[in-house]
Amino acid sequence: ALAEQAKRVAAEFEFGDDAVNKAVKEFIREMDEGLEKEGTEMSQIPTYVTAVPNGTEKGLYMAVDLGGTNFRVCSIQLHGNTTFSLTQSKVAIPRELMVAKTSKELFSFLAKQIEAFLKTHHEEHYAGTLRRREGNSVPPQHDEIFNLGFTFSFPVNQIGINKGMLMRWTKGFDIQDAVGKDVCALLQHEIDELHLPVKVAALVNDTVGTLMARSYTSPGKTGTLLGAIFGTGTNGAYVERLDKVTKLTKDKNAGEYDSSTGEMIVNTEWGSFDNSLRTLPNTPYDIELDEKSVNPGIQMFEKRVSGMFLGELLRLALLKLIKDPNVPLFTDDNSSSNDVHSTTQIHDSSPIWKQWGLDTSFLSVCAGDSSPGYRMLRQTLDKDYDISAVSAEDAEAVREIAAAIGRRAARLAAVAIAGIVINTGRLDRPSGSATTERKSSIEPPRGDVDGSDGDEIDVGVDGSLVEFYPNFEEYIREALRAVAEIGTKGEKRVRIGIAKDGSGVGAALIALVAGQVAAPE
Ligand code: BG6
Ligand code: GLC
Repeated sequence: ALAEQAKRVAAEFEFGDDAVNKAVKEFIREMDEGLEKEGTEMSQIPTYVTAVPNGTEKGLYMAVDLGGTNFRVCSIQLHGNTTFSLTQSKVAIPRELMVAKTSKELFSFLAKQIEAFLKTHHEEHYAGTLRRREGNSVPPQHDEIFNLGFTFSFPVNQIGINKGMLMRWTKGFDIQDAVGKDVCALLQHEIDELHLPVKVAALVNDTVGTLMARSYTSPGKTGTLLGAIFGTGTNGAYVERLDKVTKLTKDKNAGEYDSSTGEMIVNTEWGSFDNSLRTLPNTPYDIELDEKSVNPGIQMFEKRVSGMFLGELLRLALLKLIKDPNVPLFTDDNSSSNDVHSTTQIHDSSPIWKQWGLDTSFLSVCAGDSSPGYRMLRQTLDKDYDISAVSAEDAEAVREIAAAIGRRAARLAAVAIAGIVINTGRLDRPSGSATTERKSSIEPPRGDVDGSDGDEIDVGVDGSLVEFYPNFEEYIREALRAVAEIGTKGEKRVRIGIAKDGSGVGAALIALVAGQVAAPE
């Protein structure tokens, strides 16, 4: 009975080929709608990034990164020959700061981390700070000042390269007074209070940073089309034709940007794709997760795809079995004395009873465990979740449901990638033509290092899910092949590469461009 019931629950997470194709069409419709007007489901935010350096620039830059698992501070030395070295420190964001009463608490924490980093790694820049703080107010000298790229991975209505108003929080953050404010100004204010020689020069979404970094280091001729994050949250930024971004080109109040490349990177904020659920799947577990979240009704795509939510979906699905009087998952309550489950114990202390109690990394454990009787899986349940003496049958049931949730997430991820590949017309580019067609310096000139012939469609990805969930890419590819316009031939052209921690380097590159625009030599 357990095996059957588990199959039934797993089947609720099926997202078949027809569903994928329908969702791709809707994705393309919402992409176009978002390029034309404000207030749409997918925000399609113009980033003001129309160019990146060509790899010859030199200099020392800083980047900070807020919005993934960790808060990171780094400095990046660009050597001028397309290489760089990176120094960084990471801390987990204290949970209470994500829901702090005031944004000042969060941003002053960030500024303090920047200070600690300078103190440890850049003493020569830090020294003047103390003098300034003591009232000896010699302003920081030109070569003392760090230009900083601020990777802030939330939806921001960007109105210039270092100015943007927070539209809404995502991924469990919830600090009301920050909404509508310029996040660069909030950070700069706290930096200035500490008298640090740091100027917030560029505001960057992590997807944009990932795209930049991948484009910079990827040796293909055609440059990178898309930077995507599959981590705590999910989102993508891609290279769009400027004339298609009509809401910007028609806007008289738009900030300045260099239009000579004819392209601009657009941050889709696809986490909110299809909030109205025209094509997204919607199981009872999705409904419950959403209702109990801090932002019901929004980020509906993200809630089915990304690392923050998959563990919770699995927890809710397992609870259904645990609470079902006819299904003895993890419990001996209803079992006869000779039942194999009779020794299984789910303790009251188990985190599985609590919202967010099951971590998405557990799905990776399930997918990665092929040992006889699923030893790893059972050990993890015992050690991390206070569920002891799990039978092989129970383990099999858990594994089946976890796999269904992971596979559905990857197939949904494929919808987004497919939508962008199709709608940008990259599939129509005849092989080898990309180099001659390329007008944009978004794609830095590269030698043909890997022998690619311009046929490839390059996608840079980052985030804990794509990095650690076994087979995530394989599931994506399986779904891409099922998309009518892509098929097996198109799927082969899509190159997916990890741009690990790329957003730091990407942010530094954008800070560099911003610095050049602001202060021409
Ligand atoms: C990191 C990037 O590598 O990945 C961040 O530097 C990004 O900018 C993050 O937000 C996404 O992954 P996760 O799993 O930390 O959300
Ligand atoms: C959330 C944010 C988005 C970010 C993504 C990945 O969807 O809204 O800005 O890029 O998470 O971190």
